[in-house]
Amino acid sequence: MKKGPGKAVSGPLAEGWKQALMNEVEGREFYRMAAANARLDGVRQMFTFLMEEEERHREAILEQIGRMAEGKPARLVRRAAGKREIQKFRSPLFTPEFVARGKNAEGEAAALSIGMTLEKRAIEQFTALRRKVKGDAEAEKVVADLIAWERDHLKLLARQYEQFREMYWEEARFWPF
Ligand SMILES: [Fe+2]
Ligand SMILES: [Fe+2]
Repeated sequence: MKKGPGKAVSGPLAEGWKQALMNEVEGREFYRMAAANARLDGVRQMFTFLMEEEERHREAILEQIGRMAEGKPARLVRRAAGKREIQKFRSPLFTPEFVARGKNAEGEAAALSIGMTLEKRAIEQFTALRRKVKGDAEAEKVVADLIAWERDHLKLLARQYEQFREMYWEEARFWPF
């Protein structure tokens, strides 16, 4: 891949990065709404954390585009503190009492589910981008790190969703079996 100034920031590769940037902005805004609507403190904190994470991704992608424009190799630094912080949200954030109250909880479950869809979309698009940067070892590494990072988000949401669902069926008196 040619790395001359101004060269690498146009064409299909630039389109891939631009799409990734839009995804991050949409993800950030979705998590902002989810946090604003959350009724439980723990859930609000998780969505706020995810909002900040997507903002970090947006900044990181902008940095990569800037580095490409200057002909510098891609480079991504994921803070160790962020990796640790994500662990805080592993244990169940919902309580059976909250879930039993029905409608309130269903809004939060929907937010988890939509968040999972956004994370999956990000993973798919970064996977496509990884194919486009093939041959550029530094860029491949950056995109692989972003994929791993989004997978951590997906895993976290899926875990909370699963925990919620178990409580939901446990508490739902209408369950016919
Ligand atoms: Fe992201
Ligand atoms: Fe994410």
